[in-house]
Amino acid sequence: MAGDLNCEDKGDFEHFMIKEIFAGPKALRQTLNGRIKDNKIIFSGLNFEIKNINKIFIAGCGTAYHAGLVGRKAIEELTGLQVEIDLASEFAYRRVLWQAGDLLIVISQSGETADTLAALYKAKQAGIPVLAILNVPGSTMARWADAVIYTQAGPEISIASTKVYLTQLMALYLLALYLAQERGTLSEAELNTYIKSITTIDQKVEKALALQPTVKEIAGYYRDTDNAFFLGRGYDYPVAMEGALKLKETSYVHAEAYAAGELKHGSIALLNGDVLVIGLVSQDALAEKTMSNIDEIKSRGAQTIVICKESLQKYCQEYEKVIIIPDTEPWLAPLVTVVPLQLFAYYMAVFRGTEVDNPRHLTKAVTVE
Ligand code: G6P
Repeated sequence: MAGDLNCEDKGDFEHFMIKEIFAGPKALRQTLNGRIKDNKIIFSGLNFEIKNINKIFIAGCGTAYHAGLVGRKAIEELTGLQVEIDLASEFAYRRVLWQAGDLLIVISQSGETADTLAALYKAKQAGIPVLAILNVPGSTMARWADAVIYTQAGPEISIASTKVYLTQLMALYLLALYLAQERGTLSEAELNTYIKSITTIDQKVEKALALQPTVKEIAGYYRDTDNAFFLGRGYDYPVAMEGALKLKETSYVHAEAYAAGELKHGSIALLNGDVLVIGLVSQDALAEKTMSNIDEIKSRGAQTIVICKESLQKYCQEYEKVIIIPDTEPWLAPLVTVVPLQLFAYYMAVFRGTEVDNPRHLTKAVTVE
């Protein structure tokens, strides 16, 4: 909780936010701990029939919702199951056409967010099983859900969520792999390859953290920016949404995320030399298309930063401000791509002199609808 400042200390860090960004790799290892044995994913506490699931719904708010968007893609790709995702505040009050075999996954750091609780209650009333992905043990959602996956990130003090986002992604990736394993939608060889990449992803996050000085310098350069757009396609799009949210929350900079291909359908009219555009390029199959969207933006005079995967560098050679991130399999890229965005939001906040750990008007858990 943001108020528990006495139980935790910042160590050598100036703020909890930067301390927690750097705690990301350890938090990921903690979430993985005990979940993989002999190349098998273990989820002992999931007390509903995995093989009978026909469709998954996901609900969450803020950062948890953004993690859910990534989770939806991973579950659909690895298992072939249909997944619907909603903001919890919308899900709770729309007509849901429940069917036998449905499962609701709620995602929440605190386990207390009122909107997400309302979504949970809605499923419970309809007799639909609920799986909660939570960070805080003993929370209200933990008591109501049929099963809980804990993200094991430890206490998160900064209101802007960073390390917990990484662990929410990890929990969802593990769940996607577990569903694939139990339902037989991946061959053993495929499963082994996925498991191998997930168990070493913390090292890539460590490498991305080494970009700190570069990101700090770039944030210093753009510190007076008042409008920022974040763009990405595929897995990069929800990460763009998370990057925009982090910047809004911590720096009070107006920021929006767009699916890179969508900007041209109207919002491109907003571009001029005062707008900063941050493009994410981590998806091999989509890189060329994303870069063509970013080229279009550059030609409209907007300032650009490209966050590009090492092996895709050839696409962004003409760009001055490029942040090169370590190579990662496309499905796991969100864990790496988000790191420079978290660092960017942090340093923008520091340079702009905002209340980094306790931004105005925000609380760690919103317990009203
Ligand atoms: C608040 C926080 C956000 C957070 C959201 C969901 O609005 O300011 O940072 O993402 O709640 O919180 P939860 O605890 O449900 O993950």
